[in-house]
Amino acid sequence: MITPRLECIINHTNGKKIADIGTDHAYIPIYMIQNNLAESFIAGDVRKGPVDIAKNNVKKHNLTDKIDVRLGSGLSVLKKGEVDTIIIAGMGGQLISEIIDADISIARECSLVLQPMNGQYELRHYLHKNGFTITNEDIVIEGFKVYNIINAKNGKQDEFQTDIEYHLPKYLKSNKYYIDLYRKKHREFTKVIKGLELSKDTDIEKLEQYKFWLKELEKYEN
Ligand SMILES: C[S@@+](CC[C@H](N)C(=O)[O-])C[C@H]1O[C@@H](n2cnc3c(N)ncnc32)[C@H](O)[C@@H]1O
Repeated sequence: MITPRLECIINHTNGKKIADIGTDHAYIPIYMIQNNLAESFIAGDVRKGPVDIAKNNVKKHNLTDKIDVRLGSGLSVLKKGEVDTIIIAGMGGQLISEIIDADISIARECSLVLQPMNGQYELRHYLHKNGFTITNEDIVIEGFKVYNIINAKNGKQDEFQTDIEYHLPKYLKSNKYYIDLYRKKHREFTKVIKGLELSKDTDIEKLEQYKFWLKELEKYEN
């Protein structure tokens, strides 16, 4: 089932031999092969349950010759040179960074299509600090949820000028859903601040950090 989020990931994926890491039901590989959007896929997942479901789905669609489903963590299911593009979607930004970092030499040789569910700030910092360039970003809305799709590849990129940009990059301003992402970040910061203020044992440093980010964010509304 291709939802708007998955469709947006697919629209930002442009490769021949692709890996879908954390494939779950293998929806992306099946759709892209059926629609001639890729030559072959390696679909990896760390859990046996999703791997079995993915295998069954691939078999049901007669695509076992095009989609190889593998059990294992992150990029460890890949050999060097097997794919030109890697999708890592539907996981936290911190986990995505750890997956890239664990097999960074494989990641450096591929185009990366990343869709973090949270921790976008940490992921963008990780990419810049570790010699990856963010080549494109998009925003997609599904129901009430706002998602980021990040394209990245090997190559040094200057760090953003201000820290707040790691939460809300300036280049997203022209995106039609910019204001939705802005509001999401605003809600997120406000919620954290309220929680910290109500806490008996307030982490003052964290509270000051979020208050500062909120002030900085508000400069970016328009
Ligand atoms: C929420 S699902 C996302 C499925 C799909 N990628 C999507 O975007 O809809 C996350 C999947 O990632 C898998 N996963 C979590 N950690 C992983 C890791 N280190 N390596 C591979 N797969 C992992 C989980 O087992 C789960 O199937």
